[in-house]
Amino acid sequence: MTIDFIGRPVSRVDGRQKVTGGATYAAEFGVPNMAHAAVVRSTVANGRIISIDTAEAERAAGVLAVLTHRNAPRLAYRPHKGLPDAAVGERLHVLQDNRVNHQGQPIALVVADTLEQANHAAALVRAAYAAETGTTDVTRVEPVLPTQQKTDQGETPPAETRRGDPEGALAAAEVKVDHTYVIPRENHNPIEMHATIAVWDGDRLTLWDKTQWVHNTADEIAAVFGIPAVNIRVVSPFVGGAFGSGLRTWPHVTLAALGARVAGRPVKLMLSRREMYYGVGYRPHTVQRVALAASRDGALAAIVHEGYQETSTYEEFSEALLNASRFLHSCPNVFTRHRIARMNVHTPTYMRAPGEASGVFALESAMDELAVALGVDPVELRLRNEPERDEFKQLPFSSRSTRACYRVAAERFGWSRRDPEPRSMRDGRWLIGWGMATATYPMNYAPASAAARLLPDGTAEVTSASSDMGPGTWTSMTQVAAETLGLPIEQVKFSLGDTRLPRAAIHGGSMTMASVGSAVQAACRKAREDALARAGGANDLTDAMRRLGQPVEASADVTPGDASQRFSMHAFGALFVEVAVDPDLGETRVRRMVGAYGAGRIVNPKTARSQCIGGMIGGIGMALMEHSVVDARNGRITNANFAEYAVPVHADAPPVMDVIFVDEHDPNVNPLGVKGVGEIALVGVAPAITNAIFHATGKRIRELPVTPDKLL
Ligand code: MOS
Repeated sequence: MTIDFIGRPVSRVDGRQKVTGGATYAAEFGVPNMAHAAVVRSTVANGRIISIDTAEAERAAGVLAVLTHRNAPRLAYRPHKGLPDAAVGERLHVLQDNRVNHQGQPIALVVADTLEQANHAAALVRAAYAAETGTTDVTRVEPVLPTQQKTDQGETPPAETRRGDPEGALAAAEVKVDHTYVIPRENHNPIEMHATIAVWDGDRLTLWDKTQWVHNTADEIAAVFGIPAVNIRVVSPFVGGAFGSGLRTWPHVTLAALGARVAGRPVKLMLSRREMYYGVGYRPHTVQRVALAASRDGALAAIVHEGYQETSTYEEFSEALLNASRFLHSCPNVFTRHRIARMNVHTPTYMRAPGEASGVFALESAMDELAVALGVDPVELRLRNEPERDEFKQLPFSSRSTRACYRVAAERFGWSRRDPEPRSMRDGRWLIGWGMATATYPMNYAPASAAARLLPDGTAEVTSASSDMGPGTWTSMTQVAAETLGLPIEQVKFSLGDTRLPRAAIHGGSMTMASVGSAVQAACRKAREDALARAGGANDLTDAMRRLGQPVEASADVTPGDASQRFSMHAFGALFVEVAVDPDLGETRVRRMVGAYGAGRIVNPKTARSQCIGGMIGGIGMALMEHSVVDARNGRITNANFAEYAVPVHADAPPVMDVIFVDEHDPNVNPLGVKGVGEIALVGVAPAITNAIFHATGKRIRELPVTPDKLL
């Protein structure tokens, strides 16, 4: 009997735990004798600390330690570049000198018996600064080309790419559009704040931490403290959303470990919502120029896409802002140039669909503007520019389902009934607009390991040190294991989130299903074959295990082959959106969203749909609400709280959200044939919404978010 669990809408195996409070998040691990830490943060963006008075804080009730750059132990800070770290530059070193690089930088750490005592004492620390003029206004910084150098991950990507003669084609074009698109800084706002509990036992350290990659946390803290990584255990079974903020290991993890070492007690450090804006990254502010040229019949003749993004003074963080423009649509003449604006801010980081979400907003807005200029339907314009292959990499696509996505999503949406004239569709006093955009995100597949242990009672324990920030890793891996082993799903227990388990790929870049899933499959296949061979003549695995009477263990590592040299591998999708705009109040409501995706094999259509709906709702935030408002005088975020940083809530989610996965079999990408949906879910949503707003109102808004004031 074969049991097909892959492809079934299995409910979350950890669902009951989550809704009953049984799932334990980083800050919830109770440790005996635990003390609490609070961080004192800089109130200037650039300069030096000239004095810091901790006397009153030290005398306050319950205080165990007050650490500043004057008394904190010198840390090793051995070079360490993990995959999510900026390729160029050096991480922020905490409490090692008097230099201040950004507003909100940690300048002192207070450890006390209770959280209230720590917070109170932290408020008593007095610092004076020799402030220097800081660059905190992104509109006043001259962007520069990023440094090109060899890194641990290879050569940094070229800042400029060119094929054909884009300038010539632009000058000679029959029809062109040329505009600038701006996306302000956005912050990750998962429900769970970042938290770390640190416990030393001699030279061994245990960290309960909110992280998307336990092994990288161990590696980095080992480098910071100059101890072997094997001495550090990192535990992180549940992550309450992260969207990329948990990819890197940020300074607060070091501070928690430092506080625990100095105080000689377990220490918990949990960031407040406000602190989440000053130390765990953000989606950088971007400014992008897109110029498109086309012939009258709508064939693209040139794409010029130049963009820059903010980064810190100490690290060059670059995201894949321009990648999609190089291959998404067919075009003989393409120029892209990526630059960075160095600022006195903390380093930005990956935030759901990093680069693609921002870059595709500009590209797909420009495509819509071109469609209007040509008088061609936006779907038809894209179909006329469908490439046969990746024209940048000069490789065939491993699979590309854009045509199918446009067709099925347009049909479901009813796109053929659209009157192309702006302001032509109404519902009472509301203006109705229909818009669409294309989505794409690379298929990422990285080395990963897993282990499987089969027991005589016919159950199996399968492990890999992956994470689950929400997509359902617990569940999807259990499905892959159960199907591969041929066991009922209830007899398979999967575990993740602990450095004692086999090393997994980073839980990001939509690569978990591809990488960890393939490793789980390989380990389970090995264990099953081994057990059946050793038990000779057994009817099935359960029978074999009973006969053997002892556990069978197997582990497996998977590593990508040369597929990326032979194929261009991406997921593709199409988004169709209906908005209603109040012509008097400028309020936009998203009424319907239909997304179709070609993302390879879908292991669990229920959790995958949930991810796509989450991405669509996140896209509503990006299009209409999210904006970290930076006070240009000092780099302070004026809305670093949930009252003023608006994110979509249930009432903002449209009543109709359709997710369609088109059939796509792609054996080239990885053993499981999956491409991942986590990131592509956000790509294309914002431009579909702003294109719909143009259709509703006749107003083209090129600066996100589209708040009511921009439509009045
Ligand atoms: Mo995703 S931004 O790689 O967590």
